[in-house]
Amino acid sequence: MEAPSFFAKEAGQWERRSLEAVWHPCTQMQRHLPAGNPDSLPLLPVARAEGPWLYGFDGRAYYDAISSWWTTLFGHRHPRIVAAIKEQLDTLDHVLLAGCTHAAAVELAERLHTLTGGRLGHAFFASDGASATEIALKMAAHYARNLGFPRKTGFVCFAGGYHGETIGALGVTDVPLFRQAYEPLLRPATILPSPDARLGPAAAEEAANALQRHLQDHGEEVAAVIIEPLVQCAGGMIMHPPDFLRRLRRLCDEHGVLLIFDEIAVGCGRTGRIFAHEHAGVHPDLLCLSKGITGGILPLAVVLATDGVFEAFLDEHVERGFLHSHSYTGNPLACRAACATLALLEESSMEERLEALGSAFERSLAPIAAHHGASHLRRCGTLVAFDLAEADEGFPRRAAVAALEHGLLLRPLGQTLYVMPPFDTRPEEVAFACEAIERTLGDVL
Ligand SMILES: Cc1ncc(COP(=O)(O)O)c(C=O)c1O
Repeated sequence: MEAPSFFAKEAGQWERRSLEAVWHPCTQMQRHLPAGNPDSLPLLPVARAEGPWLYGFDGRAYYDAISSWWTTLFGHRHPRIVAAIKEQLDTLDHVLLAGCTHAAAVELAERLHTLTGGRLGHAFFASDGASATEIALKMAAHYARNLGFPRKTGFVCFAGGYHGETIGALGVTDVPLFRQAYEPLLRPATILPSPDARLGPAAAEEAANALQRHLQDHGEEVAAVIIEPLVQCAGGMIMHPPDFLRRLRRLCDEHGVLLIFDEIAVGCGRTGRIFAHEHAGVHPDLLCLSKGITGGILPLAVVLATDGVFEAFLDEHVERGFLHSHSYTGNPLACRAACATLALLEESSMEERLEALGSAFERSLAPIAAHHGASHLRRCGTLVAFDLAEADEGFPRRAAVAALEHGLLLRPLGQTLYVMPPFDTRPEEVAFACEAIERTLGDVL
């Protein structure tokens, strides 16, 4: 069916005006210009969204296979989360969290305390994921300083890891494309080999041994080790076994180094459990959450800290306190959205639902991956990925454009094609998405 011309005009209008006025993130803007160039990237003007679907101005639907950059959790505009935000808006919109408090922040912090088995009972709020990384890094170094170890200012991270794009977060991120222009601005961190399971079981062992050696030689200068537990997402959905996290925990304890789990992408149910680290049965000293914590509706980040970390900042001297702040820290609307999100995640059938969703995608994608000679079909909870040796440098862009033609929002990472689906995806929608992926690959490979 041809799109009504009114809608086509609407879509064209937003695309044109956006390219003139909006500087889009993570984008070489030149790629969007000029229209008609075979290498140019179209911009998708989105009129509305519901469940796992985005709708263009012409009414066309696109299955959001990447949960809008891994934010949307159950699906867009989940009614219970929307209702919680509306109710909050009728009483308190925003108030600063220094010297004031409010019920939504308190209830969210208490809820997270309970969900972490009482181990991470102190919630420091912020806005986007990278701000949580900044907070965790600053907190770790300041913690060591308060304990009398001012030389402990170094950070250890892993190859392929991604923790955000602000200057501190980029310093512990190993994605060369995002780093290279800013390299002179970054404070060097120690980047150890990735525990990448695709390289075989020895990779995790080697990464842990490298950490052991590094801490033996330089532990006195290390404030913290940071890792995305179970899946290094932006690096290419690189997975590692839970046992690796147990080894990290032991090594950090032995050397008096804090362990930071960045669950900004993998938290909130993506791995099949509310927190990825539950799979390993160990807790970090600092846990970073964001993205899905509000169901993907409002920006919110939180760093959860142990009693030990929190107490090291208590002192009569103000400068020994953690003086970091952001204006929208603990925004009540976002906190209410997060409380509603956690209530949904805590529903008793949730783990089975997440397992069913992930395995349905894995089953349907396996023959497609095999047909294209893909390697390393892998899954962690609801997240499924495979690698296409045939994919060249232009593949992610070509695949993203072709996917839109087939009603799918997709953004491959290099040679890695992945889905991170909204949880409220029905079996027929899994079938639709996988068929669209099959057609996309048929078009571009
Ligand atoms: C693991 C991880 N940490 C941090 C971030 C940064 O979050 P934000 O983009 O909200 O700043 C991301 C974003 O993709 C991420 O995947």
